[in-house]
Amino acid sequence: MKNIITKLFGPLLPHLGELEGGSRIRRGLSLLALLPFLASAQTVTSPNGNVTVKFSLSDSGQPTYEMSYKGKTVCKPSHLGLELAKDKHASKFMQETDLMDGFKETDHKTTSFDETWRPVWGETATIRNNYNEMEVDLNQPSSNRNIIIRFRVYDYGMGLRYEFPQQNDLNYFVIKEEHTQFAMNGNHTAYWIPGDYDTQEYEYQITPLTGIKDIIRRDREKYKSNSSTTVFSDTGVQTSLQMKTKDGLYINIHEAACIDYPTMHLNLNEKTLTFESWLTPDAVGRKGFIQTPFNTPWRTVLVSDDACDMLSCKLTLNLNEPCKIKDTSWIHPTKYCGVWWNMIVGTKTWSYTNDYPSVRLGVTDYSKCKPNGTHGATTSEVKRYIDFAAKNGLQEVLVEGWNVGWEDWFGHQKLDVFDFVTPYPDFDIKYLNDYAHSKGVKLMMHHETSASAINYERHLEDAFNLMNKYGYDAVKTGYVGDIIPRGEYHYSQLMNNHYQRVVEEAAKHHIMVNAHEATRPTGICRTWPNLVGNESARGTEYEAFGGSVPYHTVMLPFTRLQGGPMDYTPGIFETKLSEWSDNKSFVHSTLCGQLSLYLVMYSPLQMAADLPEHYEKYDDAFQFIRDVACDWDDSKYIEAEPAKYITVARKAKGTDNWFVGGKTGEEAHTAVVKFDFLDKGRKYDCAIYQDAADADYEKNPKAYKISHRTVKKGDILKIKEARGGGFAISLIAK
Ligand code: NOJ
Ligand code: CA
Repeated sequence: MKNIITKLFGPLLPHLGELEGGSRIRRGLSLLALLPFLASAQTVTSPNGNVTVKFSLSDSGQPTYEMSYKGKTVCKPSHLGLELAKDKHASKFMQETDLMDGFKETDHKTTSFDETWRPVWGETATIRNNYNEMEVDLNQPSSNRNIIIRFRVYDYGMGLRYEFPQQNDLNYFVIKEEHTQFAMNGNHTAYWIPGDYDTQEYEYQITPLTGIKDIIRRDREKYKSNSSTTVFSDTGVQTSLQMKTKDGLYINIHEAACIDYPTMHLNLNEKTLTFESWLTPDAVGRKGFIQTPFNTPWRTVLVSDDACDMLSCKLTLNLNEPCKIKDTSWIHPTKYCGVWWNMIVGTKTWSYTNDYPSVRLGVTDYSKCKPNGTHGATTSEVKRYIDFAAKNGLQEVLVEGWNVGWEDWFGHQKLDVFDFVTPYPDFDIKYLNDYAHSKGVKLMMHHETSASAINYERHLEDAFNLMNKYGYDAVKTGYVGDIIPRGEYHYSQLMNNHYQRVVEEAAKHHIMVNAHEATRPTGICRTWPNLVGNESARGTEYEAFGGSVPYHTVMLPFTRLQGGPMDYTPGIFETKLSEWSDNKSFVHSTLCGQLSLYLVMYSPLQMAADLPEHYEKYDDAFQFIRDVACDWDDSKYIEAEPAKYITVARKAKGTDNWFVGGKTGEEAHTAVVKFDFLDKGRKYDCAIYQDAADADYEKNPKAYKISHRTVKKGDILKIKEARGGGFAISLIAK
């Protein structure tokens, strides 16, 4: 037996490779991983044996896989394949028959991989990437075309993708639909938002799989309130889709490394309880122009019997390519405040004047109009925020509404909306940047594109040069409204390429990117760590637009955050907006619930989103935002249940200090925190920020208490969280 293994796989036996950041990695083929291969040519098992994926070809030669976890079925036999465009949607030079069936297996390889890499920023200082891989080489004799299906099987899930090597008989093709199935083994509970080509800014619904249709039908009209929305099916949902089975398995479907490809949705066949991929089309319905060689994004399925594993698992990042930026020294986790919440609530405006119902860039003369008196981004107001940031250790100040065009920015499918370089007359760009720098603070740029990607690409180089000139190193971009090129969708291949181009161009200029309304992330921040944030979900702004359910932030870590951090913009202390504005909305969280989000919603970019004057009123609670880190050496999920509660402890980068946060949903919860993660023999100054006994997100959101004590390893704290509440703890090593 040993001889056969050496003969077959000798050339592949262990060799050393280079780890990102310069350390050594171990890469190679473990003999153990080969055993399943020798036993059955179609099966690969995860390193600890929990997850098994089996591949087979059906009688008609259709690729099929099934997946199990500790012997329980996760995906029943599910087909794989691609339907190609053979009509007017592909040019006459790109007419290809389908890649669905008629395949024969030509080769089959199983290998294993184990490396530990260092993210530029993250929840942990190092990430282990350990999987067993199965490559299945297929040929379709009728067309003589070859494809590869590659599976990577981890202890908490698997990824699979299609690969199209360069070959004589397959060079260009157009996708009509990808038919990757995920056949569920029961009518699981699903935590879902409707499939939509243009927005992810939805509240999560919790229903059995067969309950999806009724809700989408019921709410279709309501969905139209977003600025751009295209719901495509009564049974369509977005990824990442979280599910829970009746026997306690957590299953999550998403994708990794979505590059040069449309974003995937899932459509449910209610009869068979099978999800199938449903790609975002382009303006005329095509779903991807492909040139070989090409690899699709990974289709991922996470699975565990412990919900904490859904949150700590790094499978999405691991399936992305290593960092492509050589010098990453300019990329830094950032806490920031900004001229923002006032506009969202409606007490200030992005626009400078009310005189112009429409604006033409370069023609409209702002020196001739009357300022409206409500403009937010004035030199004096920005200066106030810079002072606030400097005083409280926040590194940057976001300023929205600094540039001309906001009087007429949205709703008219206008191509030339902004030029991204011309400030309003009352915003002194040079003075403010110099002033900020003198105080150790940077301004954060804002580029609202109004979804005119064409216009943004035309201005990008000038816009980034302006940022370099004045010393900005981060930009928040935005894509509100219907996409231009007209007819395109936010998540099409063309738009995904646009977002990617912006990130790569920004990297050349040493600029970090935080893209709002762009496609949901799929772990690309591993490869391009200057992508420090995305919105791509319903953020805090919706608390001013009518509110979000209190369990929303207890869902996002299970779903949206699978692909990368979210710029959720937490930290609203004056939760009842009518107390200081005409806005009737309120934030569906207690004040301590807001503090907990700095831990529960991991992001290297964290906003203190409320107004400085509100923080000054609750300065003792604001101390937590001043203290909390946003880059971590270690993270331990203590307890978690989708939509119910999440409690996590994190160790601040380069220190011995820990921070703990807990958030609850609609119901009160008592978190039990055992300090077994602390260093033995060490004492810690512990500050606890918790909901008061009578706190409640609706009736009494600002009731909190702060207490101090000394704790050591092994101590246990029981902390009561109110409805829609939470807690935050800092542990400073003595
Ligand atoms: C929507 C973004 O999510 C929000 O943060 C921003 O203020 C507005 N667009 C204007 O760009
Ligand atoms: Ca938004």
